[in-house]
Amino acid sequence: MTMLNVGRQTRPEAVEVTDANATLTGGRGLLQDEPLIFELGGWDKTGVDLPEPTLDASDLGDLVRAEPIGLPGLSEPETLRHYVRLSQKNHAIDLALYPLGSCTMKHNPRLNEKMARLAGLSDIHPLQPVSTVQGALALMDQLAHWLKTLTGMPAVALSPKAGAHGELCGLLAIRAAHEARGDARKRVLVPTSAHGTNPATAAFVGYAVEEIAQTTDGRVDLGDLAAKLGPDVAAIMVTNPNTCGLFERDIVEIARLAHAAGAFFYCDGANFNAIVGRVRPADLGVDAMHINLHKTFSTPHGGGGPGAGPVVLSEALAPFAPTPWVVHGQAGFDLVEHATDGSGSFGRMSAFHGQMGMFVRALTYMMSHGADGLRQVAEDAVLNANYIKARLSPVMTAPFDGPCMHEALFDDSWLEGTGVSTLDFAKAMIDEGFHPMTMYFPLVVHGAMLIEPTETEPKVELDRFCDTLLALAAAAKAGDAERFKAAPMHAPLRRLDETLAARKPKLRWTA
Ligand SMILES: Cc1ncc(COP(=O)(O)O)c(C=O)c1O
Repeated sequence: MTMLNVGRQTRPEAVEVTDANATLTGGRGLLQDEPLIFELGGWDKTGVDLPEPTLDASDLGDLVRAEPIGLPGLSEPETLRHYVRLSQKNHAIDLALYPLGSCTMKHNPRLNEKMARLAGLSDIHPLQPVSTVQGALALMDQLAHWLKTLTGMPAVALSPKAGAHGELCGLLAIRAAHEARGDARKRVLVPTSAHGTNPATAAFVGYAVEEIAQTTDGRVDLGDLAAKLGPDVAAIMVTNPNTCGLFERDIVEIARLAHAAGAFFYCDGANFNAIVGRVRPADLGVDAMHINLHKTFSTPHGGGGPGAGPVVLSEALAPFAPTPWVVHGQAGFDLVEHATDGSGSFGRMSAFHGQMGMFVRALTYMMSHGADGLRQVAEDAVLNANYIKARLSPVMTAPFDGPCMHEALFDDSWLEGTGVSTLDFAKAMIDEGFHPMTMYFPLVVHGAMLIEPTETEPKVELDRFCDTLLALAAAAKAGDAERFKAAPMHAPLRRLDETLAARKPKLRWTA
């Protein structure tokens, strides 16, 4: 008899084991390969007892299914255990600090979840008559009010589903605004340190993308920007704080130069977490900016979604906002579903109004913190990142001097001669229970390691993280390259072929 994996239980004495090495995991039962649910469940099984049908199949005519629907049948405990086992293979913000720079993996307060699960919010459908979803529309209106107040901008489009979708929204509004005055422009300028979605979005909208150089202190090179601006530039796309974790000190001048050339200033607001409550983008001259609710306003993310990327718009761009939008009339709230002729709106980006579940969570975060609390969010995010920078800098090299904003950036020059790369170092962190930091981004920094602790980490966790990294750094410098090359050794899977995983992902199960 082959013994089943028994995790931490002790093996009964009388059981015959034929191939123990192949079946026992040494107490690490959860590290076994978990089959897909389609492989676990039988087509002929069901997890619920349904009463025998009272109708005769012949009464149903064409509606009778010719073959099983193909959903796997499992009992409730089998189903639960499958998903819990899967969840334990992954790192999660509920387990430990999740230092992915530029991603703002912060704690998701349970109050947000409680509000999102209220039946009146979770059980509604976007096709319901507006008279039955007045509360939801009021909530969207209030969220819009907070976003406009925090950014100082007069309008907001709520429907974009993520940061990148927000960029698309902003650039479509910009294109519509230029076209409305008969001024079709051709180029969009983007700094070398920009997130890949910026140039990708500009190209997708049909613009030629040109890079703006960076200064040695990690900021936009004003001279290069001025030289590249011209009458055919539709917009500049600048992230602030930028992807090196630095505030663009010349941001007002950057906006002035863009406006003087007749271009719009699109600000990538992915890093709004660092300045919320302290700086209003409108005061910096921003024309359009997306806000990743899943970053700054603590809605859950990971694995690609679900996100929400509302876009705030200046006076000049507001008339070109996409539908739908919420209006407040005498009879209550209403949704403008279709723009009237000549309104300027560039159209619609998605079937419905946006990610309602994320709206509820984000508004809960805002209201539970209040304006002062949100200011403290930014201050604590910056303080935590600088604490990490100060503790690690004696060993790990930072490419730019001085304090950082909400994320601490290191390069790999400190690893020179050790035989350990940024990738190896990051993999070793997995063995110590931490998710790796963002690696090799921004591209302008060699072997970049971008660490964003966020404001929700207590000092004790920051210290645990720094102690671990310093100990790993000491091991790397002591010549223990092998342990780094072999890492991760204690994760459910060993080192993956990242190129293959990105280029040829297996996205579909086949029997
Ligand atoms: C600077 C920056 N811009 C844009 C994006 C895109 O945002 P999203 O992932 O929500 O599409 C990200 C995401 O990490 C980012 O860090």
